Amino acid sequence: MKTDKLYNDPELAQFYDLENEWSPACAFLLKLADNARSVLDIGCGTGLLAARIAMDGTKRVVGADPAQPMLDIAKQREGGDQVTWVLSDAATLNLNEKFDLIVLSGHAFQVFLTAEAQLALLKTIERHLEVGGQFIFDSRNPKIKEWQEWNPQESGRTIEHPEFGTINSWNDYSFDPQAMVVEYGTYYEVIADGRVYSSKSRIAFPSQEQIAALVAQTKLHVNHWFGDWQGNPYHEDAVEIIPFGSLKAEL
Ligand SMILES: C[S@@+](CC[C@H](N)C(=O)[O-])C[C@H]1O[C@@H](n2cnc3c(N)ncnc32)[C@H](O)[C@@H]1O
Repeated sequence: MKTDKLYNDPELAQFYDLENEWSPACAFLLKLADNARSVLDIGCGTGLLAARIAMDGTKRVVGADPAQPMLDIAKQREGGDQVTWVLSDAATLNLNEKFDLIVLSGHAFQVFLTAEAQLALLKTIERHLEVGGQFIFDSRNPKIKEWQEWNPQESGRTIEHPEFGTINSWNDYSFDPQAMVVEYGTYYEVIADGRVYSSKSRIAFPSQEQIAALVAQTKLHVNHWFGDWQGNPYHEDAVEIIPFGSLKAEL
């Protein structure tokens, strides 16, 4: 898999937490982790969720991500010393260990661009899930076409950077309807000196039916399809596709 500069360039990774704060998704997942003794966070990024889950000191928490700059930030945050951080692509992750709960948050599922890559991720979840354990992840519903808002006009925003001061930020995108992949640009312009940090990233928008068909090729089973992080059921116009499941019982 080609690496994404947004996560693999320390200059861009430093903006991640300024744009991605504690969210309803994090609150939902933190509560879910209450009953787990062990949690694996795949594509953990800067580790906001994993570190928070680990903070009560009662669970084994592992965060895995292939982007070193993201993990470097994760290690430094409060609670970061209570998490085992693993530098790894999800497809090749092999911890020889099983977990009560496996999560991918912040739409990390969408970085897997092809059905083949998505299936490899699901197999990784399958390999690491305890009997009776649970998995959950989120993917934006392609029917909502959220990417259409990722144009410079609608996405324009300002961010306060602790060192650089005010930043103008915006996105742009192009959409490949055949592959259902969106390539989006992310731009950070430092107002004080005009410096611009930018990256191009690609994410997939599989449908609920496509995700269900992939899950059916594994020993995983989806018990609930949520459509948002309030726990409402998935429906055609839902913003999110959130499969919440477990390992199929052996016959
Ligand atoms: C949108 S961020 C989500 C980060 C974090 N889960 C959150 O909620 O803030 C996507 C993350 O997926 C990671 N990623 C990219 N390719 C990956 C892969 N092949 N396996 C695992 N993680 C990957 C990126 O490095 C990045 O940290």
